[in-house]
Amino acid sequence: MKSKPVLSLLLALPWFMLPAHADYDKTALVNDAKGAVKALAGPLQMKLKTAMQAGGPASAIDVCKTIAPQLARSVSAEKGMDVTRVSLKNRNSVIGVPNEWQTEVLQDFEKRKRSGEDPKTISYAAVIDNQFRFMKAVPTAAVCLKCHGSELAPDVARALNKAYPNDKATGFKEGDIRGAFVVVKDLN
Ligand code: HEC
Repeated sequence: MKSKPVLSLLLALPWFMLPAHADYDKTALVNDAKGAVKALAGPLQMKLKTAMQAGGPASAIDVCKTIAPQLARSVSAEKGMDVTRVSLKNRNSVIGVPNEWQTEVLQDFEKRKRSGEDPKTISYAAVIDNQFRFMKAVPTAAVCLKCHGSELAPDVARALNKAYPNDKATGFKEGDIRGAFVVVKDLN
C-alpha cells in the first residue's frame, strides 16, 4: 500500500505537469509525409500514362523499373524523409520487400480493407524508437492490371519474366491493395 499516496499525487497533478512528450509535431510530420507521397505518386502516374499511350505496357515497364526508384531517391533527398514502395506481393525482390513492421502494417491494411475501409484512404502513422513511420496503401487501378493483373500480354509477360524472375506482383484485381508507399524519418 506504500505506492498509493504517490499514485494519488500523480493523478492529482494537472495534465501539463505530467512528464513531457517528446518534442515533435506529429500532425506536421504526417502532412510532410503525405506531401512526399504526392511528390512521388503524381509524376510517376503521369510518366506511366504517357509511356503507356506512346508505346504500350511493354515499353512503359522502364518507367516503373528505372524512373520510379530514381524519383523515390530524389524526393527522399528533397523532403529529408526516406520514401519507398513495398508490397506483400512484390515485383522488385530487393527494394520492394517490406521489413518486419512494414509487413505487419500491410497485413493490417488488408484486414482494414476486408472490414470495409476504402483502400484509397487507408494509411498508418506512428513514432516508434524515435523514428517517424508513415505508410499509405496503394490501390490497384484498371491501368495497373496490364502489368499486375492475371492476364498479361505475351510481350509484357516476357519482359517482366526477364527482368524479375522472382516476380510475385501479378494476379491483382482492380481495387486490391497493390502495396504501400513508406515514408520514414529518424527524429533526433
Ligand atoms: C508498364 C507496366 C506497369 C504498370 C502499368 C504498373 N506497374 Fe507497378 N511495377 C512495374 C514494375 C516493372 C515494377 C518493379 C519496379 C522496381 O523494379 O522497383 C513495379 C513495381 C510496383 C510497386 C513496388 C513494389 C513492388 O512490387 O516491387 C508498386 C507499389 C506498384 N508497382 C504499383 C503499381 C500501381 C498502383 C500501378 C497502377 C497505377 C502500377 N504499378 C502499374 C510495372 C508496372
